[in-house]
Amino acid sequence: MALRSPLINVMVDAAKKAARGLLRDFGEVEQLQVSLKGPADFVSNADRRAEQTIMAELKKARPRFGFLMEEQGVEEGEDTSNRWIIDPLDGTTNFLHGIPHFGISIALERDGHPYAGVIYDAARDEMFFAEKGQGAYMNERRIRVAGREKLEDAVLTTGIPHRGRPGRDLFIPGVRAFMEVTAGVRRLGSAALDLAWVASGRCDGYWERSLKTWDVAAGIVIVREAGGIVTDIEGKDSMMDGGSILAANPSLHAAMLSTLKTAEKGFVEPAA
Ligand code: IPD
Ligand code: CA
Ligand code: CA
Repeated sequence: MALRSPLINVMVDAAKKAARGLLRDFGEVEQLQVSLKGPADFVSNADRRAEQTIMAELKKARPRFGFLMEEQGVEEGEDTSNRWIIDPLDGTTNFLHGIPHFGISIALERDGHPYAGVIYDAARDEMFFAEKGQGAYMNERRIRVAGREKLEDAVLTTGIPHRGRPGRDLFIPGVRAFMEVTAGVRRLGSAALDLAWVASGRCDGYWERSLKTWDVAAGIVIVREAGGIVTDIEGKDSMMDGGSILAANPSLHAAMLSTLKTAEKGFVEPAA
């Protein structure tokens, strides 16, 4: 079997094309040669340009498919069973600070379920991809989730709610519990790459709340095809509806769910 199907090739090519512009813009952020309006504006333009590039490439290859995009929203397609889901720059805060850890995430949703995903870490030139039933890859290599079975050996990643994001109080009991029982908790700053790194076994598990569909769609397929389990934090299947996510290898998934459940039991949101 060829490593990449025609569908994956289309997605990989779109990600690579957008990455050229993003890397150029990242170089400018690093040199602090950003526009007078300030880095935030510069980055959101980079973001928008990357999304337009991806959209144009995908449209050329599959003109009838619809879109769900972080920047441009929804565009209905004639083909109602296939929809591209795009986050052109995941890890915006890293990008803005010159931290070379950000990803381009492109998923294909088919009949309401994530079917194929590509996550490109442009700074490291690592292309993660998977298509349902075909396994998961990083560049030329097949990837699998890690085999570590105990939380005490595990390195987990998460997202820490920040200014403008809900859930700061609820985050504390969970992270505290994992601090006590794991080898370490990391906040790397890109949900898409967190999932790609669980899939490739660098990290053992990942959990986060308040995410959007485009943060997780590609990563869900890649983790599953790498042998991992992905649910929401309740153990259910609402991750694509924007909410929470918990992804890990099969041994650790259940342990992470129950650790969070115990830690958050009886949590009461403090009065505003
Ligand atoms: C963000 C990143 C981050 C996660 C945030 C997301 P963005 O996406 O994935 O890791 O913690 O909640 O919104 O804004 O950089 O595309
Ligand atoms: Ca994102
Ligand atoms: Ca983004």
